[in-house]
Amino acid sequence: MATTIDHQIRNSENKLDYNGPLTRDAFGSDFKWGVATAAYQIEGAVHEDGRTDCVWDVFARKKGRIRNNDDARHACDFYHRYEQDLDLVKELGFEQFRFSLSWSRILPGGYGKVNQAGIDFYNKLIDKCIVLGIEPWITLYHWDLPQALEKSGGWKNRRIVEWFAEYAAVCAHAFGDRVKHWIVLNEPMAVAGLGYTTGEHAPGNKGIHNFLPVVHHLALSQAEGGRVLRKILPEARIGNAISCSYVYPNSQSAADVRAARRADALMNRLFIEPALGLGYPKDAFPFLANIKRFMREGDRERLKFDFDFWGLQNYFSVVVQHSYLAPVMWLKEVPATLRNVPTTSLGWEINPIGMYEILKQFQRYKGVRELVISENGAAFKDILKGEKVEDPRRQAYYQDYLAAVLRARNDGVNITGYFAWTLLDNFEWAHGYSARFGLVFVDFKTQERTVKASGRWFAGFLKKEEM
Ligand code: GAL
Repeated sequence: MATTIDHQIRNSENKLDYNGPLTRDAFGSDFKWGVATAAYQIEGAVHEDGRTDCVWDVFARKKGRIRNNDDARHACDFYHRYEQDLDLVKELGFEQFRFSLSWSRILPGGYGKVNQAGIDFYNKLIDKCIVLGIEPWITLYHWDLPQALEKSGGWKNRRIVEWFAEYAAVCAHAFGDRVKHWIVLNEPMAVAGLGYTTGEHAPGNKGIHNFLPVVHHLALSQAEGGRVLRKILPEARIGNAISCSYVYPNSQSAADVRAARRADALMNRLFIEPALGLGYPKDAFPFLANIKRFMREGDRERLKFDFDFWGLQNYFSVVVQHSYLAPVMWLKEVPATLRNVPTTSLGWEINPIGMYEILKQFQRYKGVRELVISENGAAFKDILKGEKVEDPRRQAYYQDYLAAVLRARNDGVNITGYFAWTLLDNFEWAHGYSARFGLVFVDFKTQERTVKASGRWFAGFLKKEEM
């Protein structure tokens, strides 16, 4: 969190100064380059081969929850097209492919009987990656909770820690012989905040009373998932992926600075600090002290896990100010669209300096071994014209954010990989198909794929072509 702006990293145009050419080589030969996806956003085939509903299927069937009432019954039809889509990963030059597993494809009841057809699908996907020389990275949980578990309270029910441990073990046994890199949870903060507090995401539960138990059960599960994986796969590299946004106070007033600290505690510190043994960040956000109501003896230990790497997912920075009108948090965001700054089509501030600052912020934790950008990307209004999609703003976004990553790396941050979000335009959660993040354009009527100009730029960058 900033109280002052670091002028040293800005050039005379007030842009990030990264001194030097942006080339793949500048990141070093060991740096990992990947593209990230999530099961629910691309697979479709939601009722095929024994898969049962997840919370998003049910949420999407309720009118008015998702933009244009879109649903992901077909999404990108990746379930049937994964081979050609992995060929695209290869064509774009990425050497790592991050995907998530659908819990309700593997354990249709949430726990208990394993669905072999679900295991078979991911085996084929992993094997195809290996044939292509692409390293598979698995995310265990990217928001698609089996509805069977939601019926028993989902993340509100502490038993989810056991259900999740069972699921993690099934996956480790099934795929661990070929998969070295594992990510336990994807952005737990979004699950607690959007899924169980504001209700903007599935399962659509609303109410601040849900927030703390859900946070605690997610935090216990991320550590427990790590332990299960490590026990079964001692050689695996295990990480956890969290959302993060650099927070600026709107002014230097004490009230705004404190508001920025509270936002920082929620957006950046909430899930990493208990894992590192630091407890929940109640110093900055005293409300979190109430979480003790959900803590049992031994939980402080249970919350700890020594992850091999932390996946950071950074898209934008935020500016916040104190507000008396927002009980509990006592703050509000000053939207980027009102601040005359560049934004993506979702109104997210484009600020590569925020990426640099957040990397430096996470590097300061003693217990963090390694950082990876497990997602970064941007949505813009893309248009297919002829057989082309010209998206210069996305290319510029990637160039500027990569420059920030490079500058941080050169300044001593132990960042070892970068995953672009994402391969294909896809089902963007509550935005449905209206927000396009892909390096590849998808015509959702015909399922035709067209590599965007930004995708071609990325391929040239990764293949070290002169640009
Ligand atoms: C992340 C999420 C992804 C994707 C991305 C763009 O929060 O993990 O699934 O939707 O945001 O909004």
